[in-house]
Amino acid sequence: MTLKINSDAVRVGVLFSSTGFTSNIERSQMEGTLFAIEEINQNGGINGREIIPVYYDPASSPHHFAVYVEKLIKEDRVNVVFGCYMSSTRKAVMPIIEKWQKLLFYPTPYEGFEFSNNIIYTGASPNQNSFFLADYMASNYGTRVYMVGSNYIYPYESNRIMSDFMTNFPGGAVVSERYVGLNAGREDFHSIVQDIKLARPDFIFSTVVGKSTQEFYLACHDAGLHPDKIPIASLTTSEAEISEMRPGVAAGHITSAPYFQSIDSTRNKEVIRRFKLSPFYTVEPNMCWEAAYFQVHLFANAMRKSDTDDIGQLFPHLLNSEYDAPQGRIKINPHNNHTLLYPKIGRVDNQGQFAIIKEVKQGVDADPYFVNYSPPGVDNDN
Ligand code: ACM
Repeated sequence: MTLKINSDAVRVGVLFSSTGFTSNIERSQMEGTLFAIEEINQNGGINGREIIPVYYDPASSPHHFAVYVEKLIKEDRVNVVFGCYMSSTRKAVMPIIEKWQKLLFYPTPYEGFEFSNNIIYTGASPNQNSFFLADYMASNYGTRVYMVGSNYIYPYESNRIMSDFMTNFPGGAVVSERYVGLNAGREDFHSIVQDIKLARPDFIFSTVVGKSTQEFYLACHDAGLHPDKIPIASLTTSEAEISEMRPGVAAGHITSAPYFQSIDSTRNKEVIRRFKLSPFYTVEPNMCWEAAYFQVHLFANAMRKSDTDDIGQLFPHLLNSEYDAPQGRIKINPHNNHTLLYPKIGRVDNQGQFAIIKEVKQGVDADPYFVNYSPPGVDNDN
């Protein structure tokens, strides 16, 4: 098929930070997005129309996300935006997207308890990551958790959920709950790590995000906290954050996510191979990269049917839509606009990749309000 270049192109907004404290992980989301756009354009675009990304750098600032999404809508006239990592930035974008009746695709694990008819959520909800992490940590390490997080909504809410889970186990307890600024450096973790050594929890639940992640893992490593005795468990520490650490610093620690680069499937290996072949891309594929990648394909497939990116006509084709993502066949739940995913537990190896130590082979539907879940260990249907 010949591509109609530019004149009839589909312009989409892309809002991921390439500067600021979450730029490393957001660059991976940007590259996942651009890689998918490149694939689609090379294969005839959307019904012959080229996709053109319109990009601004919101620099990890909720205010800038809000300003740029409005600019994308009003000046660049886009109908669809791919973007946001921190939940604070999604919360800043949401009212603007809703006011103008546009569509946001959000490719990040988050704290749940949200629904918008103008957002497709492609990252994990707590029932697809926290739930399995809590169960795994309680069964293998114990139920006394020390919580350390960045100072914003995703860590507060994720800690509340993890706290509910752990205190439901006999003897379960939150030993402490500490927060650091988004720009926290090594020295900000010093007293926390000393306190962890004294408190001797069964594990640490880290909701530290962005570049402070490496500082926290390094502070634990340098203080002699051993992952066999007091592992760090996380929902966001991915191959991208680990690639910024000294080799071995994160080895032995645990992350729960629906995607790891190490997934041993033909589909995953093929996508990774093509991505790494390109000299333009530099990031380490990870859970946020994968969601950013497959959500562009979901959009393109839906628009092939609607032939327009107007939300009213596009949205019905997104609901119930499926796609062979690198993690497996994913599907958009029409009742909550979230995605069926494949929960996994990974342990960091010496190469900065994850050994997958537990996985749910059938997909798990998102249940962002925990309507159908009891705490882990109680008696759940799945
Ligand atoms: C996040 O803020 N949802 C990682």
